[in-house]
Amino acid sequence: MKTILKTAALVLVAGTIVLPLTADAQTAPKQAAAKQADPAVIDAYLKSTFGKAPPEWQARIEPDESLKTCNNFRNDVPSAEADKIVQRELAKVVFPADGKLLGDWKEGKKIANNGRGGQFSDNEKTVNGGNCYACHQLELAEVSYGTLGPSLTSYGKDRKFDPAEAKQAYTKIYNSHAVVACSNMPRFGANKFLTEKQIKDIVALLFDPESPVNK
Ligand code: HEC
Repeated sequence: MKTILKTAALVLVAGTIVLPLTADAQTAPKQAAAKQADPAVIDAYLKSTFGKAPPEWQARIEPDESLKTCNNFRNDVPSAEADKIVQRELAKVVFPADGKLLGDWKEGKKIANNGRGGQFSDNEKTVNGGNCYACHQLELAEVSYGTLGPSLTSYGKDRKFDPAEAKQAYTKIYNSHAVVACSNMPRFGANKFLTEKQIKDIVALLFDPESPVNK
């Protein structure tokens, strides 16, 4: 049961259907073809795991237009389709009204370390986190991190703290598909998982010269 809930939470957070079968299909296409499951069975199974979820969670089971394309091509979209996804997703990015992209890196550090939110065991007081360390290395002092995404150490420093690069990072965190179509990275702002303030704080973690990421 725990695995089911975890899968459901991952689907909700990433907005992408990540099932063992999909992983198989990527690594061993021939084997996967032989044991491909009926999509209708998978859909019904997923819906059943969301039985007691609130309506806004239920609504997320239905993939949006971009995700449908990603699913149809198993994330390997032709470049014309990828361009359409990037344009569509870029239009969803809301930039801060005050024009300031960098918040407080100390808060950003807490958010990057926080893996809560989007889980059935959470309650209304749970503050959603970015869980960045699940996929990225950030500050060198932290030895526990995932490697699905590239290392982000010295991220701002390597980019000479260029404001255009900070804007690109804000875009990436707000809506990863606005930068890379069918990215495995969650669409934190577009899916209203993190607030604008939280995203600014994380951008500061990457781009503030005082941030441990740049030390
Ligand atoms: C589920 C895994 C996952 C999580 C969680 C995740 N990312 Fe990513 N991220 C990726 C992957 C994979 C890539 C590379 C492919 C791509 O660009 O989409 C990436 C790319 C990036 C990039 C662009 C790197 C470059 O090449 O310049 C930035 C910046 C980034 N992530 C920041 C973050 C931050 C900050 C968080 C936490 C709020 C986060 N990511 C959470 C998977 C993840």
